[in-house]
Amino acid sequence: METASTTSTRPGKLGSSIPVKSVQDLAANSNNLTAEVLERYIRPEIDGDTVSDGESGAIPIVDLGRLFDEQFMQDEAAKLKLACEEWGFFQVTNHGIPNKVIEGIKAATEEFFKLPPEEKQKVAQLPGDVQGYGQAFVVSEDQKLDWADMYFIVIQPVQNRNMRLWPTKPSIFRDSLESYSVELKKVADCLLRSMAVNLGIDPEKFSSKFESQTMRFNYYPPCRYADKVLGLSPHSDGAGLTLLLQASQVEGLQIKRDGSWLAIKPLPDALIVNIGDLLEVLSNGKYKSIEHRAVIHGEKERMSIAAFHSTSFTGTTVGPLPELVEGSEEFYKTVSMEEYIKLFISRKLDGKSLVEQMKLKK
Ligand code: OGA
Ligand code: NI
Repeated sequence: METASTTSTRPGKLGSSIPVKSVQDLAANSNNLTAEVLERYIRPEIDGDTVSDGESGAIPIVDLGRLFDEQFMQDEAAKLKLACEEWGFFQVTNHGIPNKVIEGIKAATEEFFKLPPEEKQKVAQLPGDVQGYGQAFVVSEDQKLDWADMYFIVIQPVQNRNMRLWPTKPSIFRDSLESYSVELKKVADCLLRSMAVNLGIDPEKFSSKFESQTMRFNYYPPCRYADKVLGLSPHSDGAGLTLLLQASQVEGLQIKRDGSWLAIKPLPDALIVNIGDLLEVLSNGKYKSIEHRAVIHGEKERMSIAAFHSTSFTGTTVGPLPELVEGSEEFYKTVSMEEYIKLFISRKLDGKSLVEQMKLKK
């Protein structure tokens, strides 16, 4: 049992989302998909979008092994620099996460979403909190909805966990998540250190700020109207650094590049890494977060696991790092982390609106 004192060490609830129907259930019982329900998912605005089909190498590829091998370090760090400055999205290969850990989290994700609805409801979002199984960023009764369900959870630091929302089924879930979380945090640390070197700031000091890790497990059911709905609305991630693992073969991630959408083709078991809004602000705009979205397949389901790395949720502020504004203009304001999280949760998933609100000059 949790005591009141362990609960109170946690940061406040992260905000809330209006409950909506499980899309997985809607997709499985097409009787429930009345015209009126469907209407909330249909996006007339995506009709004319141009999408270019990416090759596996269309976004930069960073080899983590080379990044920490003296012989190749310089070259690979230069690649990482270009990836951060010019793309905001890249793939990381040779990341060193054992195959069984990757396979474990993929299997756990698949089995979790396969559970009957009653079982998943045991870890459903509670009123006023976005953690748990449900949907995020639903803030009004008339906004368009994403064709997806998700399970979102705080993992690090350990004292911020709400174990009541950790599934006990499938039985492999908790252990798989724990191993994956630890391994992934190491990868994030390595990348953050290298980024700090590229930015000319203290790697230890910078990477150790990123104490927080949250994960979003995305489940995108197939849809007969696949080209008219979106799995995830265009958005940039509010966190600092996102590491995404595609948990099934089906692709669906697209990024905004030069005004059109570029489809991402992940290399097998590579991690897709992207710069989030928090890192854009901390770096005073040297690195930019990039808009992205997820599209739906007509016949096949798709799953992905996005892990978000951020500075501590309590007692910190969000603003450009002093080392990076020295001698130059400051482009973003500084707010408390509580304020930042509030801005993050209360927006709809709406492009880069969070960063826009943080800008000093509009
Ligand atoms: C996210 C995200 C993309 C995907 O969870 O923030 O952008 O491909 N996911 O699932
Ligand atoms: Ni995202």
